[in-house]
Order: sequence, then structure tokens, then C-alpha cells
Amino acid sequence: MTESVPEPTPRQLEAEADRLAEKGLADLGYGQQELERCARLTWKINALKKLRRAVIPAHVYQRAEIIHGVSDFVGDSYALSKRCAKTSAKTIVFCGVRFMAETAKILNPGKEVLLPAPEAGCSLSESITAADVRALKAEHPGLPVVTYINTSAAVKAESDVVVTSANAATILRALYARHPSLIFIPDELMATNLAKELGKRLGVEMILWKGRCIVHENFDASSVALYRKLYPGVQILAHAECSPALASAVDFVGGTGDMMRLVERTRARYYMLVTECGLGDLARSRFPRKAFVPMCRLCPYMKSVGLEQVLRALERPSPAQRVELPAEIIARARKPIDAMFALAEA
Ligand code: 13P
Ligand code: SF4
Repeated sequence: MTESVPEPTPRQLEAEADRLAEKGLADLGYGQQELERCARLTWKINALKKLRRAVIPAHVYQRAEIIHGVSDFVGDSYALSKRCAKTSAKTIVFCGVRFMAETAKILNPGKEVLLPAPEAGCSLSESITAADVRALKAEHPGLPVVTYINTSAAVKAESDVVVTSANAATILRALYARHPSLIFIPDELMATNLAKELGKRLGVEMILWKGRCIVHENFDASSVALYRKLYPGVQILAHAECSPALASAVDFVGGTGDMMRLVERTRARYYMLVTECGLGDLARSRFPRKAFVPMCRLCPYMKSVGLEQVLRALERPSPAQRVELPAEIIARARKPIDAMFALAEA
């Protein structure tokens, strides 16, 4: 289906650019020319969204013009999954990476799910295949497979329970009450952080895989002490995909949702968010009276989503932008995701 809306009038364009500036883009450094470029696209996207009865979920690492300009809800992997499972919209235009859009399709298979940037993968998701999981299960028969949500639908289909950074520790605790050992895939740094937190032996009580996030594995633990000296009273929060050396040097380790909640409910002199740049930008917009130490890295996958692709997906989606999964994979991948919801909310 091809849909289109007329170009905005000069007055509509001006009003839209002002709206984006007020939403926080001006404070993030967007100049007038960039605001107008974005406004032309956001105006059309928002008009088309209504016409197509579409929703736009956006992960917190997305570009600010997507988050503030066109998204209907913003959150971490867990919150986005829950919202997508419940949406009554006709179409979900997922501003995030492929595993997130696939999860939306698994949870709400009747919807048209579009991924504006079909190349938006994830180094963790790409580190493991369904055949790898089958081989791990054959090597360790009977052990439950706990799978981080940053994986393909086919890998989830081979798993027993899915977890996100928001609930991994809670779910593992519940599972260890019933199983002495388990397999945790694919993030070896997150697995190591969790094993340490729960007092489990790697390779014995927790069998792991060798996947890594190319963004978080590169944060350097040795600079933490320097930052504490430069910014006395700084509260340092790191994502659970960071290295164990870094995790042991910071004040809090968790997912992006936990990091934002902690910033919201505490009053530190400074905050340092050791994660992808998008979270810092979002925190600065949400908490303009709090001080943030500049520190971030870009995720090339997350940042490959632009307003142009979102518009294209709404106007005339390319076959690559459509997220389609075999019914059999949807049915099998749904079970470990439902197991996650049950354990996380128990
Ligand atoms: P969150 O679920 O914590 O937002 O993490 C997703 C992710 O990809 C982190 O790199
Ligand atoms: Fe994947 Fe890392 Fe990018 Fe998150 S930040 S999507 S884990 S590569």
C-alpha cells in the first residue's frame, strides 16, 4: 500500500520546528536549519501515522528527533515489549533494532511490523545462531536455556526463558531455586556480572556464550577513578553489558530503565551514564536541572534509524522493512517470552 500526505505549508513547518525545539532538541544543540529539516519529516510522519493507524515505539538509544519528534512511547527492551504486546494499532513502526521488532511481531503477530532500518542488527544477536543453541543443549543436556532478549527469534525459539537487563537477576534467582546449573546466552560480560552478583561459578553453575556488545565492551574501567576525582559526588551508573572490571568500579549496574529511574529518584551532584549516548540525551531532556558528565558511545545499529527511513516505511514500506517470521518460530519463541513475563511479574 502506498500512502502520502501533502508537504507542510510554511506556517505548519515553522510551528513544527518550534515544537521540536521546545521538546528539547534546541537544548541538545540542533540549529535552526537542522530543526527545519527534521520538522519537514516529522510533520509528514505524524500525519501519515494517523492515516495508517500506526504507532511508533522507540528505544531510549534512538536519535532525539525520533524520540521527541515522532515516537508514541519510549523505553527499554522490556517496557517496549509489553507496550507492543498490547497495542491496538494496525501497524507498529519499530524505531530500534531487529531483535526488538521481531519481539513485537512475536507478541502481536496480527500486526504489520515495520523496521525502518532493516540493517539495524546487534552484535549480541549476531553472535549466536539457533544451531549454536542446539549444540549447547546437546553438550549440556537438561540445563534450562536462559536467553537475553538481544537475540533473533530463531534463537529464542530454542530457549526456555527470555530475560532483559531489567529482570535478568530476578529471573535467574527464581530459576536457581529449582536448577543447580543453567545456560545463559549470549552476553558473556552480562553473564559474568550476574554470576558474580548471584555467587555462581562460571562454566559450572552458569554455562555461557562468547557474545559481546560492541558498544559496552569498550568502556574503560580505568577512567572511573579519574572521573570521581574530576567530579566529586558523581553517581556512576553502568549498563549490565559492561565489563566486570567496570561493573565493580561503579555505583550501580542495570538496564537503561533502571538507570533512568535511579536518576529520577536520587539527588546526586553529577550523574555519569556509562552506556550508549541516547540515554544521556534523553536524561538531559527529562531532567534539565540535573548535571550529567558527558560520556557515551554511539551504537551504529541503533543510530542507523533516521527520519527518512521512518517516512519511507509509512509511505511505501520496502520488502526488507517488513518484519515477517514463520508461524512455527513465532509459536515457539512466544513461550520463553511469556515465561519471562510470568517470572518477572511474579
Ligand atoms: P535495555 O533493555 O537496558 O534498554 O538494553 C537494550 C540494549 O540493547 C542495551 O545495549
Ligand atoms: Fe546491541 Fe550493544 Fe547496540 Fe544494544 S548497544 S543494540 S547490545 S550492539
